[in-house]
Amino acid sequence: MYKLKTNIIKINNPIENNLQVEEAAALLRSNEVVAFPTETVYGLGANARSDEAVKKIFEAKGRPSDNPLIIHIANMEMIEELAEHVPDKARKLMDAFWPGPLTLIFPKKEGLSQAATPGLDTVAVRMPDHVLALALIEAAGLPIAAPSANLSGKPSPTTAQHVEKDLNGRIRCIVDGGETGVGVESTVVDCTSDIPVILRPGGVTKEEIERVIGSVSEDPALHNATDIPKSPGMKYTHYAPNAPFVLVDGSKELIQQLVNEKRRNGYQVGVLTTKENEGYYDADMVVACGKRQVLETVAANLYDALRTFNEGKVDFIYGEMFPNNGIGSAIMNRLLKAAGNSVHRENIE
Ligand code: TXA
Ligand code: MG
Repeated sequence: MYKLKTNIIKINNPIENNLQVEEAAALLRSNEVVAFPTETVYGLGANARSDEAVKKIFEAKGRPSDNPLIIHIANMEMIEELAEHVPDKARKLMDAFWPGPLTLIFPKKEGLSQAATPGLDTVAVRMPDHVLALALIEAAGLPIAAPSANLSGKPSPTTAQHVEKDLNGRIRCIVDGGETGVGVESTVVDCTSDIPVILRPGGVTKEEIERVIGSVSEDPALHNATDIPKSPGMKYTHYAPNAPFVLVDGSKELIQQLVNEKRRNGYQVGVLTTKENEGYYDADMVVACGKRQVLETVAANLYDALRTFNEGKVDFIYGEMFPNNGIGSAIMNRLLKAAGNSVHRENIE
């Protein structure tokens, strides 16, 4: 079914490579999907005004059709077409963090593709902090609907090669702008109530948001796996490596002990760790996802690390945990999803 020729366009500098930017923008204008880098992860973009274009995103990713998309804009004027109303607190957040890894949810204006916001009267909008993404959206002259450019359920892509691995033959074009920076997706904040609600932790931390608009709440589902999340996408399994993945709430000695037990039973075992502990473990595959002392490096490398396990042959993966604040909240949110909430605790057999 998927026999598209996937063209990879390398763009180092959108000003010098403006012909290539125009080539990708023309595909967007003709309702094709184009993968492109943002500062968080690669997005899979399409014309947000067109059902035909947006449906191609869902098809290429194998994404459940009830999961709404974030609409990407390149300038403040574009918000007028999307949001019925921009509350004061949202305005303050836009001033403080746009362009940047923050998605805001507004009451929706008519005119957008229904497929992008299935059954909702709200719309999620963000302005990415990436010169290439901004140049592409500007050149297309359209609001661009874009989820992360991975196959549904897989870790989000932070390089064009990750996108190619998942979507080669399924989309017409990948714009390769090198590695993304932040590495985890944007923070999603619902601004339709008086006290804004964080639906998904991400690149902008709760602490940073509260410094600008005072206290915000969090979707209870973020802390209680049995609640139904308000952000439809948060209910799906995500980010999972191919082998079963278990987080370990305990020491590295405990992790090594768990590894040893599995290996005694003939299994190949991987460990997801950090630079600081990398040398400690004796396992079949040890992958460091960054420096624990600098959690931003963990965020930046997390998805690549999770994908690395799929290149080796492991039957089980154990992973270290991280502090659940600052950017650590986004890291732990993604790790818990990757593990399907499976956590081994020191005092529990
Ligand atoms: O950093 C990012 O946000 C990346 C890049 C490409 O911009 N995009 C991204 O999109 O992560 P996606 O589709 O993988 O995640 C969007 C999340 C999903 O959990 C979705 O359910 C939620 O945002 N969402 C979108 N529109 C919503 C709405 N109107 N109400 C509630 N949640 C919404
Ligand atoms: Mg995603």
